[in-house]
Amino acid sequence: MPSILHVNASPRYSNSDSLQLARHFIESVQAAAPETFELETLNLFDDGALPAFGRIAAAAKMAVFTGQDQTPDQVAAWESARAVFDQFASADAYVFNIPLWNSGVPYVLKQWIDIITQPGWSFGFDPEQGYSGLMEGKHAMAIHTSGVYYPGVPAAFGSDFGSTFFADWLNFVGIEDAVHIRFAPTVLNSNVEGTRRLAEADLSDAALLFAGKLGAAAKLQLAND
Ligand SMILES: Cc1cc2nc3c(=O)[nH]c(=O)nc-3n(C[C@H](O)[C@H](O)[C@H](O)COP(=O)(O)O)c2cc1C
Repeated sequence: MPSILHVNASPRYSNSDSLQLARHFIESVQAAAPETFELETLNLFDDGALPAFGRIAAAAKMAVFTGQDQTPDQVAAWESARAVFDQFASADAYVFNIPLWNSGVPYVLKQWIDIITQPGWSFGFDPEQGYSGLMEGKHAMAIHTSGVYYPGVPAAFGSDFGSTFFADWLNFVGIEDAVHIRFAPTVLNSNVEGTRRLAEADLSDAALLFAGKLGAAAKLQLAND
């Protein structure tokens, strides 16, 4: 059965504009999908959702990168990170909802990325060829919201390095089939409901294509079984 991992990067739950749109998208995919699929949600702001990635884990990563043995505490940190990566890697497709925070992504999303973006897991490295993404054949929908910023707004109203960073990261790990949909501005907007409806319509359209890709993934799994 194909599977979707939904990564919720907003802590606002029932008040979250991006989460509401992610649910709209997932329900639209469910309505359009020829087969059922597994859905898992990772609420990044839940207590204990992610292990720390600090001194020991960073040393564990550099040991891998430079071909050294890991110490026992580095092995333990590496295994904790690996469990987060395994959840990521086992999905066929992803739905991300990402509010813009201080012109970037919320820090827990960066923490998740720092945990799972490891050599030999999500990317490879060759001293002559450079980096290569290992997460091939996956599909992603990324929903971006911002309260004030929207494309074309004067510089005094802020910047968006969040969606550009995130698009670059998806590409870095090899998820080339990614669609980005924006709902903005969500606060400084005299027609916020109209803007929301436009985003919902775009998501409904995108859901049809996404459902088709999940169907193709299911057929591929059947053929390989
Ligand atoms: C900590 C924090 C930082 C924010 N920084 C920005 C920002 O830099 N630019 C912007 O346009 N909106 C900013 N906002 C507003 C949110 O991006 C906006 O309200 C968004 O719709 C929230 O999505 P959510 O309801 O899914 O959490 C910020 C909100 C918070 C809580």
